[in-house]
Amino acid sequence: MTLSAAPKTSLADELEAVIRSARNGQTALGPASDPLPTSDPLGPLRASRPVDRRDRFRSLLAIYDIHTAPLQDLGGAARLQGSPSLAQLKGRLEADWLTELEQAWEDAGHLNEVASPEDVVRAMRVIAAKDRLPPAYTWLAKQATWEQVVDFLALEGGPDGGFDDLVAVCQVGLSGTAKLELGKNYWDEMGQGDLAGVHTTMYEGLVDAIAMPVIPRDQLPVEALERAALGGMLATNRWLQPEMIGALGLLELQAGPRCRLVLQAFDRVGAPAGAYPFYAEHAEVDPVHGKDWMDKAIEPTAREFPEWGPRMVRGAWWRSTLNLRFFECVRAELIAEATAA
Ligand SMILES: [Fe+2]
Ligand SMILES: [Fe+2]
Repeated sequence: MTLSAAPKTSLADELEAVIRSARNGQTALGPASDPLPTSDPLGPLRASRPVDRRDRFRSLLAIYDIHTAPLQDLGGAARLQGSPSLAQLKGRLEADWLTELEQAWEDAGHLNEVASPEDVVRAMRVIAAKDRLPPAYTWLAKQATWEQVVDFLALEGGPDGGFDDLVAVCQVGLSGTAKLELGKNYWDEMGQGDLAGVHTTMYEGLVDAIAMPVIPRDQLPVEALERAALGGMLATNRWLQPEMIGALGLLELQAGPRCRLVLQAFDRVGAPAGAYPFYAEHAEVDPVHGKDWMDKAIEPTAREFPEWGPRMVRGAWWRSTLNLRFFECVRAELIAEATAA
């Protein structure tokens, strides 16, 4: 008789249980005046391995929450940020992921052979142009039903979900025109001082207007988890600042034309007026953001720190590649769901 192996426990489930307990104050972390918790509830997970890629990205997203989620959502769990076990676990999961990304980057060819600042900008523009209009967006503009449009946008989360905080983190330690450009971009995210024009506020308006569902993380496809995790990895690893500048610049380069296709979808399916402002704003300003990011952030940074040049291109390629995988998977899933219905 053969015994079937017991199902392995998901690392993300274990991690989330520890975080939940710390958040609710059920785990004793010692006096709040101690720089590190006197007990480390993450110790038993230090050497744990995820059961699969999905588990890896769910675990990483839970870890990134500890570093970047609103404090009111974290409660006592925020004190886990300095846990040596958390740092070890995070580093190990990211190392495996970076090895995969590095392999895919190598397999993609010789995009990192950029010799001058102009080459860096050119390479970024090539990456952006290659998949500027993914089939998922043309499908959205021309074929998707209203329900599919809403579901797609719920998964997409906007062209630049969480961008304001990412730009804020990305500009730390920069100077000169790069600092200025990221600051200007951030101010646009803030509606140039007008609360109604803050991009997050406009996004909330969109959510209300189309009754966008909230999809829990554990129901997201692995491609969505990986895409979301990239922002967390870039924001919580100081050494990846060049890749982050590249990834955020690429996002700006590609967002405008995609947002225009979303607006076409709105026109075709007769979306309510409240759906428009968020995508209309990005369709208009992101081409300007993209150009300025190249001319005023990427080019001068590549001139000042030549070794950052290929790394900024690499970060752009990461973002573009994970985005494409995500769009294609979402399109296929939504079509499959509609066919099965
Ligand atoms: Fe934005
Ligand atoms: Fe933008």
